[in-house]
Amino acid sequence: MLLQTNGISKKFDRPVLNDISFSMKAGSILSFLGPSGCGKSTLLRIIAGLEKQDHGSFSTKANLSFVFQDPLLLSWRTALDNVALPLEIQKFPRDERNHKALNSLEWVGLKDAAHLHPDALSGGMKMRVSLARALITNPDLLLLDEPFAALDELTRSYLNEELLKLKEQHNIGMILVTHNIFEAAFLSDRVLVLGGAPAQITKDLTISFKSPRTAQLRSTAEFAEAVGKLQSALRGTIQC
Ligand SMILES: Nc1ncnc2c1ncn2[C@@H]1O[C@H](COP(=O)(O)OP(=O)(O)O)[C@@H](O)[C@H]1O
Ligand SMILES: [Mg+2]
Repeated sequence: MLLQTNGISKKFDRPVLNDISFSMKAGSILSFLGPSGCGKSTLLRIIAGLEKQDHGSFSTKANLSFVFQDPLLLSWRTALDNVALPLEIQKFPRDERNHKALNSLEWVGLKDAAHLHPDALSGGMKMRVSLARALITNPDLLLLDEPFAALDELTRSYLNEELLKLKEQHNIGMILVTHNIFEAAFLSDRVLVLGGAPAQITKDLTISFKSPRTAQLRSTAEFAEAVGKLQSALRGTIQC
């Protein structure tokens, strides 16, 4: 098991998460869908160790990386130096971290943009730099909190396809928080729907298409069916 959570609960000024238990296999993609304020980001932050749960536990041997909705790039650094930052903090020698950063940029198709500053990059390119920065530590679990929400539909679709390739080439497991049911259907092996106040897992849906999934999948009847299934699962969800 890549990750197992047991009865995670969390309260701020009100109870937010109640008894969240799930497990996921290495190299699989698990998505969380649910209304705003349901505690999706809080759950990811707990798994990343950025927040402490009140009850429950989780266990993982995974090397984790976090990708936020905002690319959070440092404007005065080149793409290469932004990607290399996690290794700079860990005091890797310059040659080694630059080599790994270039590799990581190549994974996301941005090797040629290594010398550019964030100002010179499009929204989609910035997100890919942010992804490359998360990949530089060789994670086997990526936590993605609405990573493509700010991008246009075409760029989002393209990056979804890139993400799947990365997953397949490097066997990276992912937990994805998204509001987009097309994205969830395209990427996920399994979708957990959160709902209620405090939020619980209200639906647990498996999505199985034959792999590799490619762009053509989106125009098939089985894809439309999966989207429909997610749509009705969300429609029945209680507000948080
Ligand atoms: N650090 C915090 N302090 C107080 N309340 C918080 C904090 N983080 C999140 N919350 C509250 O917890 C609830 C869930 O937030 P969040 O996890 O961001 O939901 P989601 O990502 O599903 O939209 C919201 O009501 C939010 O206001
Ligand atoms: Mg959130």
